[in-house]
Amino acid sequence: MSHYERIKQNKNNNIDRTEVMQMISKTMEEALNKQVNREFYSAYLYLAMSAYFESLTMKGFAKWMRIQAKEERMHAEKFYDYILARGGKVTLGAIEAPKAKWASPGKVFEEVYAHEQKVTGMINALVELSIKEKDHASFEMLQWFVKEQVEEEEHASAILSQVSCIGDVPGHLFYLDHHLGKRE
Ligand SMILES: [Fe+2]
Ligand SMILES: [Fe+2]
Repeated sequence: MSHYERIKQNKNNNIDRTEVMQMISKTMEEALNKQVNREFYSAYLYLAMSAYFESLTMKGFAKWMRIQAKEERMHAEKFYDYILARGGKVTLGAIEAPKAKWASPGKVFEEVYAHEQKVTGMINALVELSIKEKDHASFEMLQWFVKEQVEEEEHASAILSQVSCIGDVPGHLFYLDHHLGKRE
């Protein structure tokens, strides 16, 4: 029986396509699904931070965070698409609620930087899993995220050091707000 005929037969018998076409292990599938959730949580966290900056009428910071949130949704969808491409099953879990208030803009960026470092750890753990599983395709896909995390940490730490230098000087914060608002 050809591959196509087998798929057709399974379809007629109402068998889930993932039972015949799955090209990643269940362990990898579960780990990638977890990462979809974490990327959506990152989006949620940055959107909450954007709303916090809106409440301070710091429109530039708010815009920067809004774009950041959008990027995180793209990360989630990149994992989502990859799971599907490998014949895996997407399982979407509940997204944890982020907090809504921070003590200062500086505290927000301390958290952004810490959060991105945490995400880097998660990506590294996925890479290690792909090595353990001898899953070369997942290893290759994850390299995009390894590079992305270098940028994420670099950007977060750069803004954190700028905010730390400025402290609470309103004029300087206003300038940085204007600068961050230029992000496309
Ligand atoms: Fe991400
Ligand atoms: Fe990120």
